[in-house]
Order: sequence, then C-alpha cells, then structure tokens
Amino acid sequence: MLIRTATEADLPGVLEIHADAVANSTAIWTDVVPDLEGRRAWLAAHGVPGTTAIVAVEGDLVVGYGSVGPFHAKDGYRHTVEDSVYVRPGHQGAGIGRALLGALVAFSREAGHHVVVALVEAGNEGSVRLHRSLGFEDAGLLREVGTKYGRWLDLRYLTLHLP
Ligand SMILES: CC(C)(COP(=O)(O)OP(=O)(O)OC[C@H]1O[C@@H](n2cnc3c(N)ncnc32)[C@H](O)[C@@H]1OP(=O)(O)O)[C@@H](O)C(=O)NCCC(=O)NCCS
Repeated sequence: MLIRTATEADLPGVLEIHADAVANSTAIWTDVVPDLEGRRAWLAAHGVPGTTAIVAVEGDLVVGYGSVGPFHAKDGYRHTVEDSVYVRPGHQGAGIGRALLGALVAFSREAGHHVVVALVEAGNEGSVRLHRSLGFEDAGLLREVGTKYGRWLDLRYLTLHLP
C-alpha cells in the first residue's frame, strides 16, 4: 500500500468510495448522488497551499483517500484545518485509515497549522476511535444538528493541537 498525493486519474476510484459512503452510511450527511465533476472540484479545492488531497493505493486500486482543507472560510480561522478520511469497504480495519490520517497530521504539522479538527457523526465508532488513537481529543458534541435515514444525527468535534 502506497500513500501519495491524489491526481485526476485517481478520481474514479475516489468517487466509488465517496459514493458508497453517501449511499450506505451516516458519515456524509447528504442523499445527493455524487459525480466525477464534484470530485474534480474537491481535488482543485485541495490543491492550494496549506491543503492536501491524498490517496492510498494498492496497485491500480484506490483503497482510501483523505484531505486537509480549511475549517472555516473567515480569515481568523486560518490556522485551523479540517481533516477527512475514507477507506474502501472490504479494506477497512487493516490500518489504511490510520496511515492516511497519520500522513494528514504530518502534512498539517509541516504546513504550520495550529489545530486539526475532525467533524464526526457521534455514532461512527470507527472514526472516533481512529482519531482518538492519533491523539485527537473530544472537543464537544452538537446534538441533533443533522438528519439522514429519518433520524437525528449528533456531531462530535475532535481536535488535535499541533505544537
Ligand atoms: C473510519 C475509517 C476511516 C477507519 O479506517 P480503517 O482503515 O478502517 O481503520 P484502521 O484499520 O486504520 O484502524 C484505526 C483505528 O480505528 C479502529 N476502528 C476502525 N474501524 C472501526 C470500527 N468499525 N469500529 C471500531 N473501531 C474501529 C481500529 O480498531 C483502530 O483503533 P486502534 O488503533 O485503537 O486499534 C474507515 O473505517 C472508513 O472509511 N469508514 C467509513 C467512512 C467513514 O466513516 N469515514 C470517516 C468520516 S468522519
């Protein structure tokens, strides 16, 4: 397994993973079916300084992806970034998420960011545990701020402060 910067050629694989998370999980709070154009916009948005989009590949197969991007548009938040990590179904639980998040944290540290924030659906034990295992701390819970599948969703904030 190799982790590297994402390219245009990776986008169909990224889209497959993203579309599965939209269709089958509460990790992404939308029912709108994603398309390749949206993934192109994601790649472009994470190609500017201080951001990154990465993939984990096994041969030609994209088995996971992740990104670091702005936490908030206003300039006062410029030293804080938000991370995102997704692993292909069938490849989860094998250390790929940990490797991706580790690379995103290393990138954030090198870029000079101050805080990395993760916004995680509170019931997503895999993601909460992954973030905690890399040093993220619980920073708050927003109850019933989202909805999907006809039920309310709680949002957990986790933060990692970079010295
Ligand atoms: C959450 C996710 C990114 C974790 O990646 P992964 O490759 O499956 O996880 P890893 O094998 O690297 O494991 C990392 C840690 O998370 C834990 N973990 C992973 N999946 C888990 C699950 N379903 N339940 C409980 N713990 C889980 C592992 O036990 C490990 O913890 P440890 O280091 O304390 O033993 C991945 O499962 C995924 O993409 N899930 C669906 C999409 C998603 O929820 N993305 C995050 C949105 S915020």
